[in-house]
This record gives sequence, C-alpha cells and structure tokens, in this order.
Amino acid sequence: MISVGVVGGTGYTGAELLRLLVSHPQVKLQKITSRASAGKQVADEYPHLRQLIDMTFCEPDSTELGQCDVVFFATPNCTAMQMAPQLLNAGARVIDLAADFRLQNIEQWQQFYDCEHTCPEFLPEAVYGLPEINREKIRDARLIANPGCYPTAVSLGFLPLLKAGIVVPGSLIADAKSGISGAGRQTKPANLFSEVAENFRAYAVGTHRHRPEIEQTLRYISGVVEKLVFVPHVVPMVRGIHATLYAQLTDTEVDLQRLYVDTFADELFVDVLPPGSHPETASVRGSNTCRIAVHKSDDGSTAIILVVEDNLVKGAAGQAIQNMNIMFGLDETLGLMQAALWP
Ligand SMILES: NC(=O)c1ccc[n+]([C@@H]2O[C@H](COP(=O)([O-])OP(=O)(O)OC[C@H]3O[C@@H](n4cnc5c(N)ncnc54)[C@H](OP(=O)(O)O)[C@@H]3O)[C@@H](O)[C@H]2O)c1
Repeated sequence: MISVGVVGGTGYTGAELLRLLVSHPQVKLQKITSRASAGKQVADEYPHLRQLIDMTFCEPDSTELGQCDVVFFATPNCTAMQMAPQLLNAGARVIDLAADFRLQNIEQWQQFYDCEHTCPEFLPEAVYGLPEINREKIRDARLIANPGCYPTAVSLGFLPLLKAGIVVPGSLIADAKSGISGAGRQTKPANLFSEVAENFRAYAVGTHRHRPEIEQTLRYISGVVEKLVFVPHVVPMVRGIHATLYAQLTDTEVDLQRLYVDTFADELFVDVLPPGSHPETASVRGSNTCRIAVHKSDDGSTAIILVVEDNLVKGAAGQAIQNMNIMFGLDETLGLMQAALWP
C-alpha cells in the first residue's frame, strides 16, 4: 500500500483527491491537513465522505508528512515550495497541484506569481505531470508539477497539430470557459452564487498565469516558440472546462480526424469523438476523461478543436492520481475509471 498525505484537504481539489483516493485499492490515507480545521473530523467538513474516511484534519507538519510515500499539495501557489525540499530529503515523493514547479523560467514564474521562489534549485528535476507528453519522465520523478486546469485542456487539444507540425506560427487561439470551482473555495464576492448565476464574463485577458505555462508546453511539444492568445471566462456552473481552440493550418488537406484518433489511440483518458461531435462538460463531470471533437472552418484553413474536461479531475486531482499511479508502477487507471455523473 502507498501511504499518502494530502496537504490542503479542505479545499476543492483536496476534497476531490479524498473522494477518489478512498476507493483506490493501493492507497492508505495517512495524513490530511488543514490549519483552520485541525482536529475536526473530515466527514464533519465533507458529509459526502462520511463512512468512507474516519480521520481528523491535522496541522501540516513536515516531519510527519515526510514519512508518507507521497504527499499531494492541494494548496495555494507558493505553499508546496516551502515544504517540498524537506519532504524530498526525507524520502517522500511530492505532487504539487499548484504552480510552484510548473515554469522552468524562474524570472517568468516570479513575475507571474508575484512571489520569490524559495527552492529554485529543485526546478530542474521537477517533471511536468501531463502523462500524454511526459509518461516516461513521470515514472522516475520525485517531484511532479501537476498541470493547471486550463493548461491540461488546451495543451491536449493542440498536441496533435503541433506534433504534426502543421500550424501557421503565431496563429493559436484558446477561448476557454470554466465553472466556478476553478477558483477554489475562497469566499470572494465574485465567486458568490448570486454573482455567478445568470452571468457570463471573461477575466484576466492577456494576464492569466496559465498562458506562460501553456506556451511552455506548446514549445516543448513543437520545439519552436509558440505564442498563444488565451481568453478565459467564468460560466455559471460548478465543474467543467470547455475550450474552443483555433489554429491556422499550413496543410489544408490533412485528415484532422485521423490525426487526432491516431495520436490518442493509446491514451485511455483522452477520448476523440466521432466527426461532427460537440462535446459537453456534463459528459466528463466527475471523470478523469478529456473529450475532444475535431472541426475545420468552411474553407479548411483553420482547425477548430473543442475540448472538455472536469477541472477538478483531469484538470487537477484525477491527473495527480494518474501521475501517482505511474510513479509507483501501478496500472495508470487504478482508482480512476469512474463514469461521469449524468445528468
Ligand atoms: N480548483 C481547481 O479547479 C484547480 C484546478 C487545478 C489546479 N488547482 C490548483 O490547486 C491548488 C488548490 O486549489 P483549490 O481550488 O483546491 O484551493 P482552495 O479550495 O482554496 O483550498 C486551499 C487548501 O489549502 C490549504 N492551505 C492554504 N494555505 C496553506 C498553507 N500556507 N499551508 C498549508 N495549507 C494551506 C487550505 O486549508 P487551511 O488554510 O485550513 O490549511 C485549503 O485546504 C491551487 O494552487 C490551485 O491553483 C485548482
């Protein structure tokens, strides 16, 4: 059994880790932390976990967490970096759901996250945990930078086009929508039901922190400098991301459907839908699947790729568990084969 620590067990991604980990056959939950709820029963905070988890939240203590085989950080940015060195030195492996180890360019990271990195010496060994591009590196990694929710959807959606090298440079556009759980469990007026329901808005146009992360991944896949126009929006739903991606094609004759089906043929968590499909966020709610539909503009010059995922599962906790499975030599799908909730 793998002994697991979850730092930040009261947040949305932490709760989602717990929901998935309780039915993982190779996991023993060892420590679940929350500073604000230390001493409180997990089930008192989260009634959906009653009869499944009989544990109390504890303070995040590096010495105790260091005894786990793996520690997930479901915490705000700039948190994992403060404990990761000590945990790694103690022999634990670390999977950070935040952004502390995602960007290799430290100046860019400090600029976008407005925070001084406390352990940049660990960045070179951090592996970006998108299994569809980094599976082999993930196997041996001690430290995983779990991708952001938008970056997972956008990077998977562009992946086949970039690998095939059929994109006009500088033509990539991602128009993405997220449910409000993407903002976490913080109480901010903009996240209130009364301000999200019956409302629709873009935010952080040109400044969103996920843009440099996506560009880094697109560059890694294609080998060239890839620029992205990225516009995120909040939609009045709880879970889910829908990304509509545009790319001008250098080869207008290419069979995009075949390209996508072939690229993801061996990927159990990427589902390429039949031609003409329009994926729905409800079709992935609660599941680790990313569904993709492939379209072209009327004149064939522009690829239009539709991608849906659950931001809390393939966009966070599910992908983190997928990474853990790979790191510990387990079947990658273990604990992750739930069908989506429908309706
Ligand atoms: N929400 C999403 O869809 C999503 C998707 C992908 C990635 N992420 C990333 O995942 C991380 C967690 O997101 P979330 O939405 O779950 O956040 P959240 O709902 O705001 O929860 C944050 C959790 O971290 C704990 N925490 C806060 N500061 C801490 C500190 N200094 N030390 C230890 N624990 C601390 C909190 O508990 P206490 O304060 O009680 O300790 C809480 O349990 C973020 O970095 C986010 O960007 C989120």
